[in-house]
Amino acid sequence: MSGSTPAPAPVLVTGGAGYIGSHTCKALARAGYLPVTYDNLETGFRHNVKWGPLEEGDILDGTRLREVLARYPFVAALHFASLVRVDESVAQPEKYRRAIVDGSRTLVDALLETGVSKLVFSSTAAVYGAPELAPGILIREDHPKAPINPYGQYKWEVEQYLEAATTRGLRSVRLRYFNAAGSDPDGELTEEHNPPLHLIPIIFRALRDDKPFTIFGEDYPTKDGTCVRDYIHVSDLAEAHLLALKYLDDAGASAPLTRAFNLGTGAGYSVRQIVDACRKTAAKPLEVRVGPRRAGDPPSLIADSSGAQRELRWHPRHSSLPEIVGSAWRNTAGR
Ligand code: UFG
Repeated sequence: MSGSTPAPAPVLVTGGAGYIGSHTCKALARAGYLPVTYDNLETGFRHNVKWGPLEEGDILDGTRLREVLARYPFVAALHFASLVRVDESVAQPEKYRRAIVDGSRTLVDALLETGVSKLVFSSTAAVYGAPELAPGILIREDHPKAPINPYGQYKWEVEQYLEAATTRGLRSVRLRYFNAAGSDPDGELTEEHNPPLHLIPIIFRALRDDKPFTIFGEDYPTKDGTCVRDYIHVSDLAEAHLLALKYLDDAGASAPLTRAFNLGTGAGYSVRQIVDACRKTAAKPLEVRVGPRRAGDPPSLIADSSGAQRELRWHPRHSSLPEIVGSAWRNTAGR
């Protein structure tokens, strides 16, 4: 016995310099993998790549992808690289189709050609559109897919492409994130979108800068008239990717397979409840205005994640509202 530890197994992480991708790289490194980030740094940040090498490249550049795939003995790929602004996807659908649909096809072809058969794909609750469910009924994975914007539509097209690619030997897990929020409990990573993209960072930016915050509509059929969402801590999402890799290793040896899992907590908070929690955390007053509805906002999106709990053995550990909001505030206040 030589006693030497084996080299960490490399995992390709497209979009590893972005918000969810970088948190997942940290989790991968902790679990003994080598995360190799593939990112064009258009919306990601070089300083987020701390746990493995950065290979700069575009998801649409098949030649560059194959070059990187040839350089490491990859055991799997996690595909985060994407454009993520729902409103922009409505304004520029062709740009989104290329990045999401063509980009994913380019990646899958390159992976299969180079013998990498395991893939975890970042999908979204936006594939469900605006589900009409009785109060208390959660969204399951088999709920009809009826996206109401190009972002959700293209993510759903990729999911279907991955299903079809099982005939070419691909093994994939599609993770449908609900509302990703919060940031690394150790403060090593943050949510950085400039200007902020999501509800909690938007509220905190307003609090920090003493600016008013606008609620988009309070005439929805919900508990207080504002939209309800299922907020899930980004470190819990990161953990789900590790479990998905394990699932792909364990399930059915080498048989082709594809599965989709919702990732949320099963608890819904209204915009007003989030505003109150943020105000309390920052211990500052906030001027709240009420504006018209934002186009395309479903009243309520709450996940049934029992599939991920049962089959991936995934249990969110950081997703209490105080922990989500607290980590996000440390983020904003520190900058
Ligand atoms: N909101 C406001 N005011 C703001 C910003 C947001 O009232 O200034 C409201 C929105 O109308 C919505 C809620 O806060 O009701 C959450 O909005 P976000 O923009 O943070 O998130 P969305 O639910 O619209 O979308 C998010 C991701 C999508 C993903 C979707 C899946 O941004 O990428 O969750 O659930 F597809």
